Amino acid sequence: MSSHTQAASSPGWLIYDLHVAQILVLWRTIHRAGGQFTARCFISPLSSPRLPLKPNLGILLSGRGSNFEAIAANVLSGKLDCEIGFVFSNRANAAGLARARELGFACGTLESKGIDRDEYDRQVADLLREHAVDFVCLAGYMRLLSGHFVHQFRNRILNIHPSLLPAFPGLDAQYQAWIHGVKIAGCTVHFVDEDLDSGPILMQAAVPVLDDDTPETLSARILVEEHRIYSEAIAWVLTGNYRIEGRRVIKT
Ligand code: GRF
Repeated sequence: MSSHTQAASSPGWLIYDLHVAQILVLWRTIHRAGGQFTARCFISPLSSPRLPLKPNLGILLSGRGSNFEAIAANVLSGKLDCEIGFVFSNRANAAGLARARELGFACGTLESKGIDRDEYDRQVADLLREHAVDFVCLAGYMRLLSGHFVHQFRNRILNIHPSLLPAFPGLDAQYQAWIHGVKIAGCTVHFVDEDLDSGPILMQAAVPVLDDDTPETLSARILVEEHRIYSEAIAWVLTGNYRIEGRRVIKT
């Protein structure tokens, strides 16, 4: 009998393969429940992934690249304690990629025409690994990531979205908010899962919608907040001082 089968044959399997911190939470949960196992045992929080002292960021972008530039400025000034190991774009002519080259970062691009999503993402993940990327930041990357890619970098992919999620996911979020008539718009930094703009939320910033706003003026004010909170969220994640409980990202 394999050790896994043995473990699964008794209540002891519940703690099989769990991280020490999770075992502690499990123990406390059982203790508080008066020794009874409950469904809560199965949703013990996930602690942050272990990152090296100076993690290597990979940035994925498809266009202008202003969020990448804001992050790069903070990395280069030492405000963010990490390196940018690789900047990737699915669009060879992305302005952000040209800027990354000017700044001297390792860059890459892959033509996506004719390649299915899984295979494409496999190749992107290979490139990231070749450049020893620990953590991925999507900065206006206009492709939905495959499950395989998300799995490879589980809880190590961040995205910035220009709305207060879960409101207005998808394209033209600022326009969606404006035309809907909301009074408060904003932006969100979240972990990336297999679905569109849907992972656990790290940070949000609110931006009031003014009566004389156009989608363009509103977008411009949201972008200022995007540049601010994306680096703040990265800095937080780099500290490792958080845990994920269900959808909630909690400071530790
Ligand atoms: C930003 O509004 C970001 O929130 C969204 O795509 C846009 C990218 O802009 N995901 P930039 O390329 O970073 O300037």
